[in-house]
Amino acid sequence: MAQSQLAEDQFVTHHAYRIPRKLAWRTGRLDRFREVSDEHIEALQLYGGLDAARNVVEIGCGVGRDAIPLTALLPASGSYLGIDVMWPSIAWAQNNITPEHPNFQFTHFDVSDQQHNPSGVNEMIGYRIPSEDMSQDLVFMFSVFTHMFPKDVSHYLSEFARVLRPGGRVLASMFTMDRTLIPYLRNIGGGGLRQLTFAHEVEDGFFHNDPSVVPGATAYSAERIGRMAREAGLVPSNFVRGSWRKDEDFDVGGQDIVVLSKPAF
Ligand SMILES: C[S@@+](CC[C@H](N)C(=O)[O-])C[C@H]1O[C@@H](n2cnc3c(N)ncnc32)[C@H](O)[C@@H]1O
Repeated sequence: MAQSQLAEDQFVTHHAYRIPRKLAWRTGRLDRFREVSDEHIEALQLYGGLDAARNVVEIGCGVGRDAIPLTALLPASGSYLGIDVMWPSIAWAQNNITPEHPNFQFTHFDVSDQQHNPSGVNEMIGYRIPSEDMSQDLVFMFSVFTHMFPKDVSHYLSEFARVLRPGGRVLASMFTMDRTLIPYLRNIGGGGLRQLTFAHEVEDGFFHNDPSVVPGATAYSAERIGRMAREAGLVPSNFVRGSWRKDEDFDVGGQDIVVLSKPAF
Protein backbone atom coordinates (compact mmCIF):
# COMPACT_ATOMS: atom_id res chain seq x y z
CA MET A 1 0.00 0.00 0.00
CA ALA A 2 1.33 3.47 -0.86
CA GLN A 3 2.56 5.64 2.02
CA SER A 4 -0.10 8.32 1.38
CA GLN A 5 -2.86 5.70 1.40
CA LEU A 6 -1.55 4.40 4.71
CA ALA A 7 -1.61 7.91 6.16
CA GLU A 8 -5.15 8.44 4.83
CA ASP A 9 -6.31 5.25 6.55
CA GLN A 10 -5.42 6.79 9.91
CA PHE A 11 -8.36 9.18 9.60
CA VAL A 12 -12.14 9.00 9.40
CA THR A 13 -13.82 11.67 7.32
CA HIS A 14 -16.87 13.06 9.10
CA HIS A 15 -18.57 15.98 7.31
CA ALA A 16 -15.66 18.41 6.65
CA TYR A 17 -13.42 16.97 9.39
CA ARG A 18 -10.71 14.31 9.33
CA ILE A 19 -10.73 12.63 12.72
CA PRO A 20 -7.85 10.39 13.83
CA ARG A 21 -9.16 6.85 13.55
CA LYS A 22 -7.92 5.88 17.02
CA LEU A 23 -10.06 8.64 18.60
CA ALA A 24 -13.10 7.96 16.42
CA TRP A 25 -12.81 4.30 17.40
CA ARG A 26 -12.99 5.24 21.09
CA THR A 27 -16.12 7.27 20.48
CA GLY A 28 -17.66 4.09 19.09
CA ARG A 29 -19.15 2.25 16.11
CA LEU A 30 -16.48 3.10 13.56
CA ASP A 31 -18.31 0.85 11.12
CA ARG A 32 -21.35 3.22 11.21
CA PHE A 33 -19.74 6.45 12.38
CA ARG A 34 -21.77 8.81 10.16
CA GLU A 35 -25.01 6.80 10.37
CA VAL A 36 -24.88 6.80 14.18
CA SER A 37 -24.43 10.56 14.17
CA ASP A 38 -27.35 11.01 11.73
CA GLU A 39 -29.54 8.89 14.01
CA HIS A 40 -28.54 10.97 17.02
CA ILE A 41 -29.38 14.24 15.27
CA GLU A 42 -32.73 12.84 14.14
CA ALA A 43 -33.51 11.76 17.71
CA LEU A 44 -32.58 15.21 19.03
CA GLN A 45 -34.89 16.81 16.47
CA LEU A 46 -37.78 14.42 17.01
CA TYR A 47 -37.64 14.10 20.80
CA GLY A 48 -35.19 16.64 22.23
CA GLY A 49 -36.65 19.89 20.86
CA LEU A 50 -33.35 20.59 19.06
CA ASP A 51 -34.88 22.92 16.46
CA ALA A 52 -35.95 25.40 19.15
CA ALA A 53 -32.82 24.97 21.29
CA ARG A 54 -30.08 27.61 21.51
CA ASN A 55 -27.89 26.36 24.34
CA VAL A 56 -27.07 22.68 24.61
CA VAL A 57 -24.80 20.43 26.67
CA GLU A 58 -23.62 17.00 25.58
CA ILE A 59 -22.33 14.56 28.18
CA GLY A 60 -19.95 11.96 26.76
CA CYS A 61 -19.29 13.89 23.56
CA GLY A 62 -16.27 11.78 22.62
CA VAL A 63 -14.39 13.31 19.73
CA GLY A 64 -17.38 15.44 18.67
CA ARG A 65 -19.27 13.04 16.41
CA ASP A 66 -22.50 14.95 17.14
CA ALA A 67 -20.96 18.36 17.80
CA ILE A 68 -19.71 18.50 14.20
CA PRO A 69 -23.15 18.32 12.52
CA LEU A 70 -24.57 20.57 15.25
CA THR A 71 -22.23 23.38 14.13
CA ALA A 72 -24.54 23.72 11.12
CA LEU A 73 -27.78 23.35 13.07
CA LEU A 74 -27.50 25.48 16.20
CA PRO A 75 -28.07 29.24 15.74
CA ALA A 76 -24.90 31.34 15.61
CA SER A 77 -26.01 32.99 18.87
CA GLY A 78 -26.35 29.57 20.50
CA SER A 79 -23.77 27.49 22.32
CA TYR A 80 -22.66 23.91 22.69
CA LEU A 81 -20.70 22.49 25.62
CA GLY A 82 -19.28 18.98 25.19
CA ILE A 83 -18.02 17.08 28.25
CA ASP A 84 -16.09 13.84 28.27
CA VAL A 85 -13.77 11.88 30.53
CA MET A 86 -11.34 11.03 27.68
CA TRP A 87 -8.76 13.79 27.47
CA PRO A 88 -7.30 12.97 24.00
CA SER A 89 -10.77 13.23 22.41
CA ILE A 90 -11.50 16.51 24.18
CA ALA A 91 -8.09 17.90 23.19
CA TRP A 92 -8.73 17.04 19.54
CA ALA A 93 -12.16 18.69 19.61
CA GLN A 94 -10.74 21.80 21.33
CA ASN A 95 -7.99 22.08 18.72
CA ASN A 96 -10.07 21.31 15.66
CA ILE A 97 -13.72 22.30 16.23
CA THR A 98 -13.55 25.28 18.63
CA PRO A 99 -11.19 27.43 16.48
CA GLU A 100 -13.74 27.41 13.63
CA HIS A 101 -16.77 27.53 15.94
CA PRO A 102 -15.87 29.43 19.14
CA ASN A 103 -19.39 28.91 20.52
CA PHE A 104 -18.56 25.17 20.61
CA GLN A 105 -16.58 24.44 23.77
CA PHE A 106 -15.22 21.14 25.03
CA THR A 107 -14.20 20.33 28.56
CA HIS A 108 -12.49 17.39 30.17
CA PHE A 109 -14.02 15.84 33.27
CA ASP A 110 -11.24 13.87 34.94
CA VAL A 111 -13.47 11.38 36.72
CA SER A 112 -12.18 7.94 37.55
CA ASP A 113 -13.79 5.54 35.08
CA GLN A 114 -12.38 2.05 34.74
CA GLN A 115 -13.39 1.74 31.11
CA HIS A 116 -12.81 5.23 29.69
CA ASN A 117 -10.48 7.06 32.09
CA PRO A 118 -8.78 4.69 34.55
CA SER A 119 -6.27 7.32 35.72
CA GLY A 120 -9.01 9.87 36.57
CA VAL A 121 -8.70 11.52 39.96
CA ASN A 122 -12.22 12.80 40.72
CA GLU A 123 -15.45 11.22 41.92
CA MET A 124 -18.70 11.82 40.07
CA ILE A 125 -20.29 13.09 43.27
CA GLY A 126 -19.43 16.75 43.62
CA TYR A 127 -18.91 17.30 39.88
CA ARG A 128 -20.36 20.60 38.72
CA ILE A 129 -21.14 21.06 35.04
CA PRO A 130 -19.31 24.29 34.08
CA SER A 131 -22.50 26.13 33.22
CA GLU A 132 -24.69 28.71 34.96
CA ASP A 133 -27.95 27.73 36.63
CA MET A 134 -30.94 27.77 34.24
CA SER A 135 -28.83 28.57 31.18
CA GLN A 136 -29.42 25.53 28.94
CA ASP A 137 -32.29 24.33 26.77
CA LEU A 138 -31.19 20.75 26.21
CA VAL A 139 -28.79 18.29 27.84
CA PHE A 140 -28.22 15.11 25.86
CA MET A 141 -26.16 11.97 26.14
CA PHE A 142 -25.93 8.94 23.92
CA SER A 143 -24.74 5.67 25.37
CA VAL A 144 -23.37 7.08 28.62
CA PHE A 145 -25.92 6.07 31.28
CA THR A 146 -25.53 2.57 29.77
CA HIS A 147 -22.62 1.80 32.09
CA MET A 148 -23.34 4.07 35.05
CA PHE A 149 -24.45 3.31 38.60
CA PRO A 150 -27.45 4.91 40.33
CA LYS A 151 -25.67 7.35 42.62
CA ASP A 152 -23.67 8.77 39.69
CA VAL A 153 -26.73 8.95 37.43
CA SER A 154 -28.62 10.74 40.23
CA HIS A 155 -25.81 13.24 40.58
CA TYR A 156 -25.83 13.98 36.86
CA LEU A 157 -29.64 14.34 36.92
CA SER A 158 -29.44 16.93 39.70
CA GLU A 159 -26.82 18.84 37.71
CA PHE A 160 -29.06 18.71 34.61
CA ALA A 161 -31.96 20.08 36.67
CA ARG A 162 -29.70 22.90 37.85
CA VAL A 163 -28.39 24.00 34.44
CA LEU A 164 -31.66 23.63 32.50
CA ARG A 165 -34.10 26.46 32.01
CA PRO A 166 -37.68 25.70 33.06
CA GLY A 167 -39.18 23.77 30.14
CA GLY A 168 -35.73 22.46 29.10
CA ARG A 169 -35.18 18.80 28.32
CA VAL A 170 -32.80 15.93 28.96
CA LEU A 171 -32.51 13.28 26.25
CA ALA A 172 -30.60 10.12 27.14
CA SER A 173 -30.17 6.91 25.18
CA MET A 174 -29.90 4.01 27.60
CA PHE A 175 -31.18 0.53 28.32
CA THR A 176 -34.47 0.32 30.19
CA MET A 177 -35.50 -2.96 31.73
CA ASP A 178 -38.24 -4.65 33.61
CA ARG A 179 -37.80 -7.88 35.54
CA THR A 180 -40.59 -9.52 33.53
CA LEU A 181 -38.34 -9.13 30.45
CA ILE A 182 -35.61 -11.39 31.84
CA PRO A 183 -37.11 -14.69 30.54
CA TYR A 184 -37.97 -13.06 27.19
CA LEU A 185 -34.39 -11.79 26.76
CA ARG A 186 -32.97 -15.20 27.66
CA ASN A 187 -35.34 -16.76 25.16
CA ILE A 188 -34.23 -14.57 22.25
CA GLY A 189 -30.56 -15.24 23.11
CA GLY A 190 -30.05 -11.74 24.53
CA GLY A 191 -30.72 -8.32 23.04
CA GLY A 192 -28.54 -5.88 21.15
CA LEU A 193 -25.12 -6.44 19.65
CA ARG A 194 -23.73 -7.87 22.88
CA GLN A 195 -26.52 -10.37 23.65
CA LEU A 196 -27.61 -8.44 26.71
CA THR A 197 -29.91 -10.19 29.18
CA PHE A 198 -29.66 -7.89 32.23
CA ALA A 199 -30.60 -10.90 34.33
CA HIS A 200 -29.12 -9.44 37.56
CA GLU A 201 -31.39 -7.00 39.37
CA VAL A 202 -28.73 -5.83 41.81
CA GLU A 203 -30.97 -3.17 43.36
CA ASP A 204 -34.65 -2.37 42.95
CA GLY A 205 -35.06 -1.41 39.28
CA PHE A 206 -31.30 -1.39 38.55
CA PHE A 207 -29.95 -4.23 36.41
CA HIS A 208 -26.47 -5.39 35.60
CA ASN A 209 -25.77 -7.48 32.55
CA ASP A 210 -22.81 -9.22 34.19
CA PRO A 211 -21.79 -8.09 37.69
CA SER A 212 -18.34 -9.65 37.19
CA VAL A 213 -17.68 -7.00 34.52
CA VAL A 214 -17.42 -3.57 36.12
CA PRO A 215 -18.68 -1.16 34.96
CA GLY A 216 -20.20 -3.27 32.14
CA ALA A 217 -23.66 -2.69 30.72
CA THR A 218 -26.38 -1.44 33.08
CA ALA A 219 -30.12 -0.87 32.74
CA TYR A 220 -32.85 0.85 34.74
CA SER A 221 -36.56 0.22 35.02
CA ALA A 222 -38.71 3.07 33.75
CA GLU A 223 -40.10 3.35 37.28
CA ARG A 224 -36.61 3.66 38.84
CA ILE A 225 -35.27 6.22 36.38
CA GLY A 226 -38.55 8.14 36.73
CA ARG A 227 -38.16 8.20 40.51
CA MET A 228 -34.54 9.34 40.26
CA ALA A 229 -35.57 12.07 37.82
CA ARG A 230 -38.32 13.34 40.14
CA GLU A 231 -35.94 13.40 43.10
CA ALA A 232 -33.63 15.59 41.00
CA GLY A 233 -36.44 17.98 40.01
CA LEU A 234 -37.17 16.60 36.53
CA VAL A 235 -40.22 14.79 35.17
CA PRO A 236 -40.27 11.90 32.66
CA SER A 237 -41.89 13.19 29.47
CA ASN A 238 -41.25 10.62 26.75
CA PHE A 239 -39.94 7.11 26.30
CA VAL A 240 -39.05 5.54 22.94
CA ARG A 241 -38.20 1.87 22.57
CA GLY A 242 -34.92 1.12 20.77
CA SER A 243 -34.19 -2.05 18.82
CA TRP A 244 -32.05 -3.88 21.38
CA ARG A 245 -35.09 -5.87 22.61
CA LYS A 246 -35.93 -6.55 18.95
CA ASP A 247 -39.35 -4.87 19.23
CA GLU A 248 -38.41 -1.27 18.54
CA ASP A 249 -40.36 1.89 17.72
CA PHE A 250 -37.32 3.88 16.59
CA ASP A 251 -33.66 3.04 16.48
CA VAL A 252 -30.79 5.00 17.99
CA GLY A 253 -27.85 2.65 18.20
CA GLY A 254 -30.22 0.02 19.53
CA GLN A 255 -30.89 1.77 22.84
CA ASP A 256 -34.07 3.22 24.28
CA ILE A 257 -34.52 6.97 24.54
CA VAL A 258 -35.64 8.57 27.78
CA VAL A 259 -36.73 12.20 27.72
CA LEU A 260 -37.05 14.17 30.97
CA SER A 261 -38.26 17.74 31.32
CA LYS A 262 -37.66 20.47 33.82
CA PRO A 263 -41.12 21.75 34.80
CA ALA A 264 -41.92 25.28 33.70
CA PHE A 265 -42.58 27.65 36.61
C1 LIG B 1 -20.13 4.85 23.93
S1 LIG B 1 -19.26 6.37 23.91
C2 LIG B 1 -20.45 7.38 23.08
C3 LIG B 1 -19.87 8.65 22.55
C4 LIG B 1 -20.88 9.63 21.97
N1 LIG B 1 -21.92 9.94 22.95
C5 LIG B 1 -21.50 9.09 20.72
O1 LIG B 1 -22.49 8.34 20.83
O2 LIG B 1 -21.01 9.36 19.65
C6 LIG B 1 -19.45 6.91 25.60
C7 LIG B 1 -18.72 8.21 25.88
O3 LIG B 1 -19.05 8.63 27.19
C8 LIG B 1 -17.86 9.04 27.85
N2 LIG B 1 -18.12 8.91 29.29
C9 LIG B 1 -18.12 7.79 30.04
N3 LIG B 1 -18.43 8.09 31.32
C10 LIG B 1 -18.65 9.43 31.38
C11 LIG B 1 -18.99 10.33 32.40
N4 LIG B 1 -19.20 9.93 33.65
N5 LIG B 1 -19.13 11.62 32.10
C12 LIG B 1 -18.91 12.07 30.83
N6 LIG B 1 -18.57 11.26 29.80
C13 LIG B 1 -18.44 9.96 30.07
C14 LIG B 1 -16.79 8.11 27.29
O4 LIG B 1 -15.50 8.62 27.45
C15 LIG B 1 -17.22 8.03 25.83
O5 LIG B 1 -16.67 9.06 25.04
